[in-house]
Amino acid sequence: MITVNNLRYKYPQNQDYTIKGIDFEIKKGEIFGFLGPSGAGKSTTQKILIKLLLGYEGEILYRGQPLAALGDDFYEDIGVSFEMPISFSKLTAWENLQFFQQLYKTKVDLEPLLRRVGLWEDRHKKAGEYSKGMKIRLNFVRALLNKPAFLCLDEPTNGLDPANARIMKDMILEFKEQGGTVFLTSHIMSDVDELCDRVAFIVDGKLREIDSPRNLKLKYGKRSVKVEYRENNELIQREFSMEAIRSPEFINLLQTKEIETLHSGETTLEEIFIKVTGVALRD
Ligand SMILES: Nc1ncnc2c1ncn2[C@@H]1O[C@H](COP(=O)(O)OP(=O)(O)OP(=O)(O)O)[C@@H](O)[C@H]1O
Ligand SMILES: [Mg+2]
Repeated sequence: MITVNNLRYKYPQNQDYTIKGIDFEIKKGEIFGFLGPSGAGKSTTQKILIKLLLGYEGEILYRGQPLAALGDDFYEDIGVSFEMPISFSKLTAWENLQFFQQLYKTKVDLEPLLRRVGLWEDRHKKAGEYSKGMKIRLNFVRALLNKPAFLCLDEPTNGLDPANARIMKDMILEFKEQGGTVFLTSHIMSDVDELCDRVAFIVDGKLREIDSPRNLKLKYGKRSVKVEYRENNELIQREFSMEAIRSPEFINLLQTKEIETLHSGETTLEEIFIKVTGVALRD
């Protein structure tokens, strides 16, 4: 769907490049996660992919065509939600959606979408009076109102309560099931793990890793088991390699000690993030 070759980008007022030569491909029908520390260049890359930032170096192909050569039809094909939700605050949510929808040739029925994200009843409220989570949901509906084939989502679940985040994730997965392709950024590693077929890690404008969450877990994971038990009222923690769990020592420990917890050392995407980027997640 998208091929990016040696992409470099410098904001005109900056001295240094923000994007320092990155290569990746987003396959049709996949959810591609773009992860990295704050300021690494995720939103910048998204803005380049949707032709909001021009003047990049390198090559970007969308459906095999150079991005720069694509006309307005490109916008018919894509849906975007930015990290900061933007709408006309004095217009109602419904008026906002009507306004944006008339810009497109293809239009979806808004009612089911609004019902799905729980905003149907509040559609005649002014967008400026929406709560943060309501604005994010409205933004998401906006991204879908032209029935796009490619969705670009910048931190789609950030700021949503768990129930609304669940709805949003289900909608993203359904979009994919119907053949859609997604580029998303997020700092919520559990969401990324659940949604993304492949993830790329960007650090200071360069890519460090691109792979599926599962392959990354195998690569960075520790094949080990951690056990906690009590001995003479003292809590003891020990770690065994996967190979050692058949050893008499481990079996004996399980049989004779008062075991409190037992965990395999499979790593999480959060730990991988910290290892790959060398930076702790922002809270
Ligand atoms: N309009 C701009 N003009 C100049 N520099 C910018 C502009 N927007 C972003 N930058 C710089 O580009 C770098 C990357 O910013 P970007 O917004 O792409 O980061 P990000 O990875 O999306 O971070 P976050 O996780 O905080 O959203 C930062 O150093 C930022 O200061
Ligand atoms: Mg960002």
